[in-house]
Amino acid sequence: MTAQPLVEPVALHPAVAAVPVAGDELLVGGVPLTRLAARVGSTPFFAYDRQRITDRVREVRAALGGAVRLGYAVKANPMPAVVQHLAGLVDALDVASAREMHTALDTGTDPHHVSFAGPGKTPEEIRSAVAAGVLIELESDTEARRVVAAGDELGVVPRVAVRVNPDFAVRGSGMRMSGGPQQFGVDAEQVPDLLRYLGATGVDMLGFHVFAGSQNLSAEQIAQAQSATAELVISLADQMPGTVRYVNLGGGLGIPYFPKDRPVDLGLVSESLAVVVGERIAPALPDADVHIELGRYLVGEAGYYVTRVIDRKISRGRTYLVVDGGMHHQLAASGNLGQVIRRNYPVLVGDRMASLDTEQATVVGCLCTPLDLLADDVPLPRAEPGDLVVVLQAGAYGLTASPTAFLSHPAPAEVLV
Ligand SMILES: Cc1ncc(COP(=O)(O)O)c(C=O)c1O
Repeated sequence: MTAQPLVEPVALHPAVAAVPVAGDELLVGGVPLTRLAARVGSTPFFAYDRQRITDRVREVRAALGGAVRLGYAVKANPMPAVVQHLAGLVDALDVASAREMHTALDTGTDPHHVSFAGPGKTPEEIRSAVAAGVLIELESDTEARRVVAAGDELGVVPRVAVRVNPDFAVRGSGMRMSGGPQQFGVDAEQVPDLLRYLGATGVDMLGFHVFAGSQNLSAEQIAQAQSATAELVISLADQMPGTVRYVNLGGGLGIPYFPKDRPVDLGLVSESLAVVVGERIAPALPDADVHIELGRYLVGEAGYYVTRVIDRKISRGRTYLVVDGGMHHQLAASGNLGQVIRRNYPVLVGDRMASLDTEQATVVGCLCTPLDLLADDVPLPRAEPGDLVVVLQAGAYGLTASPTAFLSHPAPAEVLV
């Protein structure tokens, strides 16, 4: 007689193993998934777990201590309820369009705690931002001139900072956004000229912003970038028209999407940051408020993209689960949002969490393109039409970073639970 193999429900990805479960059901915000699906009334939908967002912010705040202000980058998830929730937890909101600015202001956040970064702000957006009194992070000379003109026209003193493109790059970012030629920020060597120009206008020049890159899991690289950024800002301070009151060191902390990804060592980031702030920035720039701004890290792991199996088919030995969602809502999971090599996001069958009847399956969406692949040949509990397939890590750059109009399917719902 051979020994029975030890059989466990499928939980190969650490993120799958970590989700809360009751019996067969994934719990989102404490609500069993089938109950939540009934409450939402239609699939597919995005669900964001309020408590997980709160817990993540508390964890970051505890690590940072009081010396660094925490901003939320609204672009990661601009759902108004999510932004409203975060507005009560963080110190500042970072926006990248007039619409995001309005979402941020709708929360009741003081415009002095809203910053507007990003290339290609239109003259109308700049005018709105000046009128609102938010901090405008200048990405070019042209933007600077438009801000000054809008201030003159409106009779308002614009509040500005300069986003600097440093002469160093940060390694390890999924998306690098500084160093070398960039559409982001003003090249460090051009900043002195811009500061001279700003000094001759009536704008309120507060300081500097550097955003080095997104989705970085290396605490060492993040720490190095923050330290190099601090040195750069200190070196520019002499040329400031006034004192430096604002230093935004960016963020870019990543989350684990793939089985071999390890979470960022937050302790290490905060230890190094404490040294950079305490020993370099505070003595050199005593009036400066130091900020970091995080998007993905605060909301990414709190999000679930919930789809329903519409069809189950076997094609030449391969099992396909065809779901009612797809890349038009969760582009990144399909591998088409900048990934070089496609790898599977963590997926699970949210109403068969305890099932021991497992199989290899490929989860595809309902679009007529082979690109619409949510999970390629992964171990899953055997699922049937009606079951709920869930993509994890869907809280950041999901719905609003996806081609929602492609194939004209209805928009999915979003709920904060
Ligand atoms: C200026 C700026 N701030 C913040 C972020 C948020 O980055 P993340 O979601 O990686 O924290 C981005 C992302 O592109 C950005 O460009």
